[in-house]
Amino acid sequence: MANKITSIAQEDEKFPPSQEFRKQAAIQSLAEYKRLYSESVKNPEKFWNTQAKDLLLWRKPWKQILKWKESHAKWFVGGKLNVCENCVDRHLGTPRENKAALIYEGEPGDQKTLTYRQLHTEICKFSNALESLGIRKGDRVAIYMPMVAEAVVAMLSCARIGAVHTVIFGGFSSESIKDRVNDCAAKLVITADGGWRRGKIIDLKVNVNQALKGCPSVESVITLKRTANRVHMKKGRDFWWHDLVESASHVHKAKAFDSETPLFVLYTSGSTGKPKGVLHTSGGYLLGTTITSKYVFDLRESDTYWCTADIGWITGHSYVVYGILSNGGTNVIYEGAPNQPGPDRFWSIVDRHKVTIFYTAPTAIRAFMKWGDDHIKKHDLSSLRLLGSVGEPINPEAWKWYHKVIGGGRCPIVDTWWQTETGGIMITTLPGAVYSKPGSAGLPFFGVVPKVFNDAGKEVRKGTSGKLVLTEPWPSMLRTLYGDNKRYKETYWSEYEGVYFCGDGCRQDKDGYFWIVGRIDDVLNVSGHRLGTAEIESALVSHHSVAESATVGRPHEIKGSAIVCFVTLKDGFKGDDKLKALLRAHVGAEIGPFAKPDEIRFAKALPKTRSGKIMRRLLKDIAAGKEIHGDTTTLEDVGVVKQLQANKD
Ligand code: WTA
Repeated sequence: MANKITSIAQEDEKFPPSQEFRKQAAIQSLAEYKRLYSESVKNPEKFWNTQAKDLLLWRKPWKQILKWKESHAKWFVGGKLNVCENCVDRHLGTPRENKAALIYEGEPGDQKTLTYRQLHTEICKFSNALESLGIRKGDRVAIYMPMVAEAVVAMLSCARIGAVHTVIFGGFSSESIKDRVNDCAAKLVITADGGWRRGKIIDLKVNVNQALKGCPSVESVITLKRTANRVHMKKGRDFWWHDLVESASHVHKAKAFDSETPLFVLYTSGSTGKPKGVLHTSGGYLLGTTITSKYVFDLRESDTYWCTADIGWITGHSYVVYGILSNGGTNVIYEGAPNQPGPDRFWSIVDRHKVTIFYTAPTAIRAFMKWGDDHIKKHDLSSLRLLGSVGEPINPEAWKWYHKVIGGGRCPIVDTWWQTETGGIMITTLPGAVYSKPGSAGLPFFGVVPKVFNDAGKEVRKGTSGKLVLTEPWPSMLRTLYGDNKRYKETYWSEYEGVYFCGDGCRQDKDGYFWIVGRIDDVLNVSGHRLGTAEIESALVSHHSVAESATVGRPHEIKGSAIVCFVTLKDGFKGDDKLKALLRAHVGAEIGPFAKPDEIRFAKALPKTRSGKIMRRLLKDIAAGKEIHGDTTTLEDVGVVKQLQANKD
């Protein structure tokens, strides 16, 4: 495992925050963190009651703080609020009114800043536009857009009118759009004519048009003009964004909705071929993202915050849109690739916009390390005061490089462990309060009770590896999987009775720090993106040449995991380079370009146990180069495999 702890010395390496940082931080000492944490877990309802009152704007108070029945939580029952009003309207009439909410930069270099007042106007117009197309509370709306300011407007407008958005990452293919749109029966799709990526146009509308050939629930499509390339618009179904908002009123009254009103569905990979629609609701989710943004990022009025995540992933939902805007923060958003036009694009953005908080993924950090420090030294990064990491375990070497080269040795790093399902950050080191240990996510956030269990469901001793569980409900937890309560229970609540199992392996050190060692199920973390091996396998077998396939991860210097597929072909097909290229393209078309296998190996047979289970562990070793002799492009050494098979059975 990439982040396995090999020495105690490493575990003991501590980076305390500087005095300077500590003095201005929201929470300034380990003792203060411990006191607050202890309060939050001794009497969670009291804690969350106070936080919900302090941090959010409610139209109607709740009658019950938490209603917990088996695996189903309801938070702030009876309370009413509007999520969009919390993120935007409530800052109007305050000194934040004309503060930048979004500082947007497109890949070609175009820039736009929206103040809270301007963002509000855009949202009101777009909300009216959505309503003019018949979108109402509870309707599902798919958003497939580039990382532009309008994508944030689209999400918040859905929230404002009570529609449930499902954002589909722009790297997904038309097949993936179709699956997601059909799973939640979306009525509307919001997209763009294209988006810029590495100097090229991503044909978003073309993909939507293709997908919609098989999506009977979709009644209309709104398309933003972004790249001005020619796209096909279907009469009666397709509307241009600018046409709709031009005639829309800039006045829109936000209604109050129940705390448990669904806010969004976000599809994520699990260990089966079908993505899971993680459902989040309003009050609890907003509270979880608001409180973590405030304390984990130590967010202050003067900060310019930049999270590099795309809105297509949970990090973009929680820490670009909801948590940050709810706190009245200033968000930088950037459309394109980190190396366009050159490998210093990110640092140029930090320098020009004087970014103070920077939140990214280890895979990006490793790429920057590889590209070399010279690109970084060209820019003044002295505005930075805090750095964050998310998506996978960060290897201590990358951590230290990030700290020294990007953070100039002065910025604390918050490594943040959480998931699409948790909605918000669960384990981290609160900056200013707590020292960091490179490679460890840290300590639980308020109200979070993580434990490491063995297979029998007993808590293991400190220092022993096991499965990471969360034993208490928390406000921003997922409520269910959209339309599939059974799978919700099976996936998260069946490993251990009444306890949430997250799918990660973990160990806790003697100081109570959690060290995540990666997924223990068949989920890969590729460049910070979650991908189920089963999804890739089912994409492969949908090709007419493939009989069977098995997909495993191989440790990769930059991406975390590389995707390695073992494939057996149907009779009459030849496993050559041409077919490899075809299959890679096929997976790209089925799931999305980011899921294309790094390596395809043809084999006459896949190694299986006598009961017919593919021996993935063995394939993992083979993929990692441990068992291969001779020709490495095909799995020809079946003799060795068979031998091992015999030994194991
Ligand atoms: C992994 C992303 C170690 C983990 C927010 C988790 C991490 C999965 C960290 C969720 C971290 C995320 N350290 N591992 N700081 N953050 N992970 O749903 O395996 O895209 O279960 O959410 O990413 O991925 P997801």
